[in-house]
Amino acid sequence: MRIIFTFYLEKNQVYIVVQKNNKNGDLNMCGIVGYIGFEDVKEIILSGLEKLEYRGYDSAGIAILNNNEVYVCKEKGRIAKLRERIDGNISGTVGIGHTRWATHGVPNKINSHPHQSSSKRFTLVHNGIIENEDELREKYLNDVNFTSDTDTEVIVQLIEKFVEKGESVELAIRHTMSELEGSYALAILDKEDMDTLYAAKNKTPLLAGRGEGFNMIGSDAMAMISLTNSLYEIEDKEMLKITRNNIEIYTIYGNKVSREPYKAEIDASDIEKGTYPHYMMKEIEEQPFVIRRIMSQYSDENGNIHMEPEIIDSIRACDKLYIIACGTSYHAGLIGKQFFEKISGKPTEVVIASEFIYNMPLLTEKPLFMFISQSGETADCRAVLVKVKEMGFKTLTMTNTKGSTLAREADNALLLYAGPEIAVASTKAYTAQIAVLAILAAFVENKININVFQELSKIAYTMETLCDDKDNYKKLAEKYINNSHCFYIGRCMDYYVCLEAALKLKEISYIHTEGFAAGELKHGPIALIEEKTPVIAVITQENINLNTRSNIKEVKARGASILVISMRKLSQETDEIVIDDINELLAPLAAIIPGQYLAYYAALKKGCDIDKPRNLAKSVTVE
Ligand code: M6R
Repeated sequence: MRIIFTFYLEKNQVYIVVQKNNKNGDLNMCGIVGYIGFEDVKEIILSGLEKLEYRGYDSAGIAILNNNEVYVCKEKGRIAKLRERIDGNISGTVGIGHTRWATHGVPNKINSHPHQSSSKRFTLVHNGIIENEDELREKYLNDVNFTSDTDTEVIVQLIEKFVEKGESVELAIRHTMSELEGSYALAILDKEDMDTLYAAKNKTPLLAGRGEGFNMIGSDAMAMISLTNSLYEIEDKEMLKITRNNIEIYTIYGNKVSREPYKAEIDASDIEKGTYPHYMMKEIEEQPFVIRRIMSQYSDENGNIHMEPEIIDSIRACDKLYIIACGTSYHAGLIGKQFFEKISGKPTEVVIASEFIYNMPLLTEKPLFMFISQSGETADCRAVLVKVKEMGFKTLTMTNTKGSTLAREADNALLLYAGPEIAVASTKAYTAQIAVLAILAAFVENKININVFQELSKIAYTMETLCDDKDNYKKLAEKYINNSHCFYIGRCMDYYVCLEAALKLKEISYIHTEGFAAGELKHGPIALIEEKTPVIAVITQENINLNTRSNIKEVKARGASILVISMRKLSQETDEIVIDDINELLAPLAAIIPGQYLAYYAALKKGCDIDKPRNLAKSVTVE
């Protein structure tokens, strides 16, 4: 266990925050899946895990119950490796699986899941962090020989300990839950019971899926959707007893919960790659369609904007909008601020979630907090949500994931309708966020009389045209992005596009890339320019066209290789990528597309794992 002390000063008082951090077991960004039915479980678990691999891919493991024996196989690395290692002769109709993103501690085989109790009666996979593992080891498990350093092993040993003391398995699980401090989604097998799969949840996502003659659990709907779309939301501190025909949900006190399943609105084909080589390519090319779907979702029968009145009222009533987000969603938030201020005249501040929590800006009297999060699970955002709710402020989540933690815990939620985004690098969720922000801003108050739907329709078409030009982006990426550094430069709305395009390039190609406000170059960054340093300039805003053009000249004079992405009316003959004329305020929606492709092709050329870049995960559920 590591103890982290954080000191901070607030209102002339020094505060000390003590955080416990587990050495090897803090696996909060993992995926779990479980199945009980009549089919051979091996392939079901493996393909479920493949759908969850975006959540982490440091190691993977599976446990299958057969003839009152448990077969366990785990491997460091990808699920493909696990597949190769699994004994082809193993079969069974009950199983659980896990894919891990290691935060602290080496992602080795010993620390991989599943973990087993001493007698191997219980086998368990876990997504989450147990904060009081040391206390529990001391209090109950002094005589136990642990085989790993993980907090997860404490859970499975505890269940066994309570069963040995005479508790039923159900009671032992609930008893264990009551002892645990921290977060967990658990799937548990008891080798003495071939007909039951147990599960439990606290502060970590978990859903149950109901099928004909089978039932499942999974960290998200995608793990189950090819078999069932009838899903149950599971609340914190609930335990599940799942048989082939039944899903029973219990509170931690053993009271049975009655809950209806909901129908997940995901098409199984949405989560397949189809003929695309990578999810990222598929998701880039889905963007025009997503924009059109968003328009239809947010329009009434007369084609006018329609959004939940409560949401609109809450924005109109606030004196300032605080947008809280991370990564790509933060970049969308920067553009959202421009929409709220320029279209609706609403003062807006955008704050990185992980900064807000320790460095809160001075708040106005009646703020509204808007969380933008594709996954709806980002821990940094959730920390802010919890804090501002405690302070009594109103909250709104904009997310792609219905029923996600941030969607459930905020006062209201707005959906992106982008469809599942599987590639770790966010593309279609980003443009969906910008489109929904524009519609929202125009509905709150439209001071500039922009016809958002009309503009978005044109943009969807422009996006298609841009996608048709991908061979050009491939050539350009190969020609220009061949250095260990790269810079994007732009001003105003273009600057925000540069930040996002730079993030795309660095996260999937590992080329060091920064997005700079073009006017800032001469205040420092220009020192980085050397012979042949690639500099990509974005120009879609008439008022800064000439300024950015002179910044291009400045870097060119110092040897940079220039690539220009410009809007047709502002373009020059030598510009490599030209975007048809569209509304300037909404131009980021189209201007980002070449940047997404350039990142894709630069990564492809380097042979990088485009959909699963190193060290990253899709849902970042650790702070
Ligand atoms: O799910 P969220 O939108 O909250 O995720 C925020 C960031 O982790 C995410 O946008 C990240 O920056 C992406 N990998 C960028 O492509």
